[in-house]
Amino acid sequence: MSNPMIAPSILSADFSRLAEEAAAVAGSDWLHVDVMDAHFVPNLTLGLPVVQSLLKATDIPLDCHLMIEDPARWAPPYAEAGAYNVTFHAEATDDPISVARDIRAAGAKAGLSVKPGTPIEPYLEILKSFDTLLIMSVEPGFGGQSFMPEVLSKARAVRKLVDSGELKLVIEIDGGIAESTIEQAAEAGIDCFVAGSAVYNAADPGEAVRKLRALAAAVRSDC
Ligand code: DX5
Ligand code: ZN
Repeated sequence: MSNPMIAPSILSADFSRLAEEAAAVAGSDWLHVDVMDAHFVPNLTLGLPVVQSLLKATDIPLDCHLMIEDPARWAPPYAEAGAYNVTFHAEATDDPISVARDIRAAGAKAGLSVKPGTPIEPYLEILKSFDTLLIMSVEPGFGGQSFMPEVLSKARAVRKLVDSGELKLVIEIDGGIAESTIEQAAEAGIDCFVAGSAVYNAADPGEAVRKLRALAAAVRSDC
């Protein structure tokens, strides 16, 4: 398997200093940006204007995680703005394939996210239309929650399909990833690890990223 990717989530960063907070994790694979609309999830964060500013402030590819209603309307503009990957929720639309098509047409990778309680089986067929699968390992809405290991069965199922060549997909996990949990996620076949509080609550966020990557890499080299 390729090297593990780490995507620090700026949800746990200082929003008044986002450029510096991005610089603090230089060398990260993606910078994870949680967009919440207070409707799909009971919290409100940031939107397109902040993403546009962030794109000017960092070279790290932006991984926009849209926890919003009506992604058909709101997701493509993030791709047009220059986000590297734009992920929306399976639970938020009846037509995920067309949203993915619009995101790709606008120049970004397309990601599908599933909440902890959403089974993956109904979506296996449409994953061909996506570049990324984001498996939520907490209920979306807030940082700092406890990792839910039961979601890893979804990662194992999709890993098999990727390893057999049936799917080409980055398998990403989001929620509760820390030094104590990243190894079990790596064992389940995760490629990309989002970490918010474990990175930005650390004394040295850059060092926290390197440590997480090393822990995941040690597991994956055994695979
Ligand atoms: C939660 C967000 C996560 C959040 C993860 O809804 O999607 O990206 O930042 O935070 P931690 O890593 O603290 O669980
Ligand atoms: Zn997220």
